[in-house]
This record gives sequence, C-alpha cells and structure tokens, in this order.
Amino acid sequence: MLDAGLIDPRALRNAFGRFATGVTVVTMRDDEGRPTGVTVNSFSSLSLEPPLLLFSLGNAQVSRRWLKDGRHFAVNVLAADQEQVAWQFAKPRDDKFEGVPSFPGERCDVPCIDGAIARFECRHHASYPGGDHEIIVGEVLHLETAGGDPMLFYSGKMARLAE
Ligand SMILES: Cc1cc2nc3c(=O)[nH]c(=O)nc-3n(C[C@H](O)[C@H](O)[C@H](O)COP(=O)(O)O)c2cc1C
Repeated sequence: MLDAGLIDPRALRNAFGRFATGVTVVTMRDDEGRPTGVTVNSFSSLSLEPPLLLFSLGNAQVSRRWLKDGRHFAVNVLAADQEQVAWQFAKPRDDKFEGVPSFPGERCDVPCIDGAIARFECRHHASYPGGDHEIIVGEVLHLETAGGDPMLFYSGKMARLAE
C-alpha cells in the first residue's frame, strides 16, 4: 500500500520542478473529430526498437479521453519562441488551435504545430494507471526534426538555453 501522507504534495511539486525539461504539445482529435491538444512536459523517450515514447496526463485532463485504443496523436516539441503556444494549450478553451498555424500529419490524421523543432506522430499503444496521473505510451509511426533552439521549463517558468 502506498502511503500518501508522508510527502507534502506542494513540496513534491516544487522538487519535481527542479528537473528542467523541454515543452511539448500533444495534439489529437476529440471524439467528434475536432482538433485539440494539451501542453505536456512529462514527455520521455521509452524504447528504440520498437519505437516508443511516453508521457503522463492528470486523471482530470480532458485530453485523456481521446488518447486510447490505437487512436493517433502527435507530440510537437516546442521551439524557444513558442511560449504563447505552450500557454494556450495549457488552458481549457473550446478552440485550442485558434490562431496557431498547423498542418496535417504525414502518417496521422491529426493537426501538427508549425515551427516545432521535432514531431513524433504516434499511435496509442498502452495506458497505465499512475496514482493521480495516467502513463500513456505511443508507438512512433513517423518523425521529423528541424533546426532551432528548444523551449525549456524550470521551476514553473519557461526558459531558454544560454548563448
Ligand atoms: C509547461 C507545462 C507542462 C505541463 N505538463 C503537463 C503534463 O505533463 N501532464 C499533465 O497532465 N498536464 C500538464 N500540464 C497542464 C496541462 O497542459 C493543462 O492542465 C491543460 O489545461 C489540460 O488540458 P485538457 O484538460 O484540455 O486536457 C502542463 C502545463 C504546462 C504549462
């Protein structure tokens, strides 16, 4: 049995935030085929052969509903100048893509974000429970990389690589 009482969640969140990450937007379609997405920094590589990646989504996140049963999604790794995009996909709103330039995926019928420095088009492979989050594993079907600096996230703030 896991003991939830020993660690203060706020202290834990702050300590997790000391781990600097990149920032991605995971894009997908909802059950009615409308484009949507969610800002995610829990992204990680998982396996090379077979090609797998993972990220975790809070159980309350709406996007979790659309990431299941072999459905397609894309992980867009944001560039340093895409802070606005990161915040837009991190807030609930009807049209998350409003004003965000996008294009159709190569192998997936999902909208992908213009200007990302890498893109992984995926098929949902598995989901695993993880406390108040769910771990989502995607099989990479297609990838693209581009030049440019990454956006970073550290201690609750966006950051950039130093010169
Ligand atoms: C930089 C950044 C990283 C985030 N990473 C995650 C994450 O890995 N998992 C998660 O569940 N929420 C994460 N969030 C919060 C979600 O983006 C946010 O709650 C969003 O509104 C959820 O949208 P949805 O309810 O439409 O799925 C992150 C937010 C920011 C700003």
